[in-house]
Amino acid sequence: MPLSLAARTRLVAATHNPGKARELAELLRNRFEVVSAGELNLPEPEEPETTFVGNAVMKARAAADACGLIAIADDSGLCVAGLEGAPGVHSARWAGPQRDFDHAMALVEQRLEEVESVERSAWFACALAVAWPHGPVVAVEGRVDGTLTFPPRGDRGFGYDPIFIPLGGDQTFGEMDPQAKHAISHRARAFAALEAALF
Ligand code: IMP
Repeated sequence: MPLSLAARTRLVAATHNPGKARELAELLRNRFEVVSAGELNLPEPEEPETTFVGNAVMKARAAADACGLIAIADDSGLCVAGLEGAPGVHSARWAGPQRDFDHAMALVEQRLEEVESVERSAWFACALAVAWPHGPVVAVEGRVDGTLTFPPRGDRGFGYDPIFIPLGGDQTFGEMDPQAKHAISHRARAFAALEAALF
């Protein structure tokens, strides 16, 4: 039987990042009853994998097996072409324990200067995984391509949004209306792929 998710299923969202948890909840709204890993006091797992999909699968698996609910997890980040895909799966780590994204964005600019790269292409990637407790797992990935701009612009969104201009646009994700970002974001695209696979 193909895997599917019925409406109103109770899901655990296996993320401890408040910005992403909010976006994930918005994307899932009206379809499922979503409880977060934080609300269930689940431990926050390490992210030892080298790919977004690997980390998403590992987090969904851990949450589902720990609490017995079907779990959805994501892993995402900013990949910079001139930095061979960095910060990538280490995007959160570049901001340090204080989650200081002004620092992380300055680091991106500094590293590009260090490697004397004039390349400003970048993309956000998002992997989503749904795991059944002690059962199968389904994973998909979405991305949005764009260009980096410095200094950062805009105070909407989160993370690296203020330095990222999606292809075809002139505003950064940090300046854009949140609904406009949601319409084209890596997370929305991953969600559309998941929808096609499961719902
Ligand atoms: P992780 O998935 O918890 O490892 O963290 C991913 C990190 O990537 C976040 O902390 C953000 O810094 C960054 N990131 C992911 N998605 C976005 C986005 O939509 N806008 C800005 N930054 C993002």
